[in-house]
Amino acid sequence: MALSDKILELKKEKKAVILAHNYQRPEIQDIADYVGDSIELSRKAVETKEAEIIVFCAVDFMAESAAILNPTKKVLLPCLGARCPMAQMLTVDEIKRAKNQYPKAPVVLYVNTLASCKAECDVCCTSANAVEVIKSLDSDTILFGPDKNLAEYVSEKTGKKLIPIPENGFCPTHLLFQPEDVKVLKMQHPNAIALAHPECSSEIRKVSDFIGSTSKMCRFVKESHAQNFIVGTEEGILHRLRKENPQKNFYLAYEGAVCPNMKLTTLDRLYAALKEEKYVVNVPEAIAKKARVSLKRMFEV
Ligand code: 13P
Ligand code: SF4
Repeated sequence: MALSDKILELKKEKKAVILAHNYQRPEIQDIADYVGDSIELSRKAVETKEAEIIVFCAVDFMAESAAILNPTKKVLLPCLGARCPMAQMLTVDEIKRAKNQYPKAPVVLYVNTLASCKAECDVCCTSANAVEVIKSLDSDTILFGPDKNLAEYVSEKTGKKLIPIPENGFCPTHLLFQPEDVKVLKMQHPNAIALAHPECSSEIRKVSDFIGSTSKMCRFVKESHAQNFIVGTEEGILHRLRKENPQKNFYLAYEGAVCPNMKLTTLDRLYAALKEEKYVVNVPEAIAKKARVSLKRMFEV
């Protein structure tokens, strides 16, 4: 029996649901019940009431959010090493220090954070809703972490002052894009639309035509009449874009834009995860309780 068939059989037997991020390997996206961006996957994790096990093919913070929002379900991360380096850049101590310095400023954290940090913030956001979350707050000065580029982008969009915590948090994959690469591709494909993730630098955002989360990019491409697109985000998204738009052309803004952590989930590891029910994501309830409030506030916006 093919490995993918074995996975599907086990999934049924164990009443599991497989969620995959837009950056996952093609074969993982193809076998998943749902492929999406970080907010969509969190929402799906809550909506799949009948599932007893959620297998999260993504990185640590996304699986942690699913575990926080679903305390009665078993959440599995097929590879323990799949950790987002940006999420590691912010510590609870750093948040506490910033709170002492700006006691009146609310704290908004990107979901790309550890659960212990989420427990210390007022509300979470993703790149899909960060502008709305910031607009919904009364304050004009806000502590925001850990992505400095997202902070800058949201500040431009809302006119509010976002103080980055830490001073220079970033995504190593999105920093690989450089404006000259986009400019060259635009010369080669003059009618192409350049898409960029808000985790990209301001230089990239300036030469791009559309900025949004991974699923917002997918929606934009589907609705656009354009034929050619320059893609400024992790290469895994090309699989979904090409599958959903076979008649359109996609050019990655930089060929090496790979998030190694997102690629750690393979079919073999997914099969082992289901079979052995590993690795269970456990968030201590004292932390989960507080982090749940911050995540739920985000869903209310
Ligand atoms: P999205 O929410 O846009 O999928 O982004 C998550 C992420 O990790 C981007 O690097
Ligand atoms: Fe983290 Fe960047 Fe990978 Fe997204 S692409 S999971 S932010 S390292």
